[in-house]
Amino acid sequence: MPTDEYPGLPVNSANFEGLYVASRKGLLNRVRSDAGYPGSSLHGEQHWRCVASAANFIAEYTPNCDLATLSLFSLLHDSMREDDGYDEFHGQRAAEYLDTLVDDGVIGGGEADISRLRLAIYWHNQASVDPKDSTIGACWDADRLNLWRLGIRPNARYLSTEFAQRENTINQAMIFLNSPPEWEEILSCIPEHPKTAISEPQRQPSRVQKILSLFR
Ligand SMILES: [Fe+2]
Ligand SMILES: [Fe+2]
Repeated sequence: MPTDEYPGLPVNSANFEGLYVASRKGLLNRVRSDAGYPGSSLHGEQHWRCVASAANFIAEYTPNCDLATLSLFSLLHDSMREDDGYDEFHGQRAAEYLDTLVDDGVIGGGEADISRLRLAIYWHNQASVDPKDSTIGACWDADRLNLWRLGIRPNARYLSTEFAQRENTINQAMIFLNSPPEWEEILSCIPEHPKTAISEPQRQPSRVQKILSLFR
């Protein structure tokens, strides 16, 4: 039960090795099959893709963000919702679901990487902020910048990264609700085998540049 304070990353989690998946398509099919409420207009696949769009954008302006973690967070963070209500424990259930996917060999990676992704998913709906770990901060900020879909203006107090906290970013974040990338593009930054792990996953310059031009 996520009732304690967000613990932050353990000190010994500094050695990140990278995340990978057995198959991007297999992962997507598995999550679609297991998701508790995938058709929701507020918290279903469309929202997951919008979170990925915002996350990729934040990463453009925030050093040391791991794109594979951002993509997997986007796909999984609301996957175990049961309804569109408060659903207090959906972050916890999604974190447990991540453990199942790791145990089944669908997702793999270093211990620190899995731990960081699990923390980001588990605590994402607990109003936590993490100004120290850019990747976790970008995950949560990407979700919160999409609050515009509920008619809620994101509050800088609950944003972790300096870029997301900017008034200009908050005011223009509605752009993420329009035409989010397809899963093939979102998941393309995740290597499909540990031996193909890459430290700097390929971005999608055309989309990023297009969004950047709207913020200028
Ligand atoms: Fe959520
Ligand atoms: Fe969400």
